[in-house]
Amino acid sequence: MVAEVTTWFTASPFQTDQHRPQIGCSASSSMSAQISWLAFSFIFFMFDPATLADQNDKDHDLETKRTANATKTLDLLFKSYDKRLRPKFGGRPVTVYVDLYIVDIGEISVTSMDYRMTMYFRQTWQDPRLRFSGTSQIVAQGDILNNIWIPDTYFKDEKRSNFHEITKKNYVLTFWPNGTVFFSIRISVTGVCPMKLHKYPMDCQKCQLNIMSYSYSKVDAIYIWKRGHEHSVEQATDISLPQMDLVRIKGSETTDVYSTGNYSRLSLTFTFKRRLSLFITETYLPSILIVALSWISFWINYKAAPARVALCITTVLTMITLTAAVQNSLPRVTYTKYSDWILILCLVYVFGALVEFAVINFHDSLETRKRDKLNRKLKKVDLEIGSDTGDGEPSDLKTRYLQRQLSSLREKIKSFTEQDVNVERIDSRSRILFPLTFLIINVAFWIYFVIDSARE
Ligand SMILES: *[C@@H]1O[C@H](CO)[C@@H](O)[C@H](O)[C@H]1NC(C)=O
Ligand SMILES: *[C@@H]1O[C@H](CO)[C@@H](O)[C@H](O)[C@H]1NC(C)=O
Ligand SMILES: *[C@@H]1O[C@H](CO)[C@@H](O)[C@H](O)[C@H]1NC(C)=O
Repeated sequence: MVAEVTTWFTASPFQTDQHRPQIGCSASSSMSAQISWLAFSFIFFMFDPATLADQNDKDHDLETKRTANATKTLDLLFKSYDKRLRPKFGGRPVTVYVDLYIVDIGEISVTSMDYRMTMYFRQTWQDPRLRFSGTSQIVAQGDILNNIWIPDTYFKDEKRSNFHEITKKNYVLTFWPNGTVFFSIRISVTGVCPMKLHKYPMDCQKCQLNIMSYSYSKVDAIYIWKRGHEHSVEQATDISLPQMDLVRIKGSETTDVYSTGNYSRLSLTFTFKRRLSLFITETYLPSILIVALSWISFWINYKAAPARVALCITTVLTMITLTAAVQNSLPRVTYTKYSDWILILCLVYVFGALVEFAVINFHDSLETRKRDKLNRKLKKVDLEIGSDTGDGEPSDLKTRYLQRQLSSLREKIKSFTEQDVNVERIDSRSRILFPLTFLIINVAFWIYFVIDSARE
């Protein structure tokens, strides 16, 4: 009422002024005078203090009456109410309609294989004992939770959950005149989610939350999604997880058979897809760079052994550290994951660079030793020829023999210098072979991963 008055008060004088040109010239002045007079008298009437006080009194009376009515209704309802027994006891099963609103989904932990979410968990059921005459629902507070039968719903795969009590217990309990009871609570659930990591980091994970009654079998209670499988679960639009994308949430209804009876169960399946970008930036790119670093040793002269060994060993150690860091962030599983294949490949390549240098060095030292031996022999033969010629009595046969030996030794030494070129060739071939094969194997791996991960 007061709101209406204020709009009248603010709008009428200005509106009449503004509309004046539209209402024809001759009648305008008398019309506006009439309207403002009407508005004035109306405002005066409305602001009459006596009328306002009357209205307040009337509202107050009505509120008191309604409060008394509701109190009486609630008292009457719970006078002979037995909260220990379910509605329709001994008769048809009570149907519990469930729907929920997911406020937030927290981190999905791979190491502990669980996830955490906060939701408004709503249940609606019919309790004929709570019918009352009246037209509107009653939203009750206080210790009413202790006075009413509530389904003993639990989450089958829950590790721990908590109820929120700030600033008061977060729940709503609404009674409708026809006996319908609506109960909504805000809870945080940490659910178990067994994960298969074969396809890590390109994996999809399915986590299930199962909702059922602890004590009532199907004979006593049946659970049903309130608005069908598809529409009973709502989620906040701003849910975003650091490592995963929530692909979809699906609801379903089933029956579990136990030795104690058949139980009605609702299940909720969350499908999460891991974002690949984290693995690429945190693990894959650094590994590739380390492997590329190990290839630099092919350009360093093989005679600079300390430089090459230091470079190769550093890359091997770094790669091992990186692999260990990735393994530590994941649970210990006995199967190989996609990430393992990539990391093992990188490790093999950095190790390969070290082995390549070892091979070159071994070749080189072997040749040096052989060359030294030949050189020594050459010197000896040289000396012998010198001593022969110096003796004055040259033996033709011996000299010719020695000279033949000398030339064969020179030949051998020459062939060794050619082999020196061979050692260099190992390096120059590695420069192309290592990056090329690494690229091909990587591409093959990724093609396989993409095809395999698409397969369900
Ligand atoms: C008070 O309760 C009676 C029934 O007990 C109902 O008929 C009546 O409309 C109620 N009055 C108000 C103001 O709600
Ligand atoms: C009870 O009343 C509420 C509100 O009017 C309505 O939504 C609900 O369908 C009714 N339940 C039954 C079983 O009639
Ligand atoms: C449970 O359901 C099975 C069939 O799914 C039925 O054979 C069995 O009798 C039921 N048990 C009870 C206790 O109702």
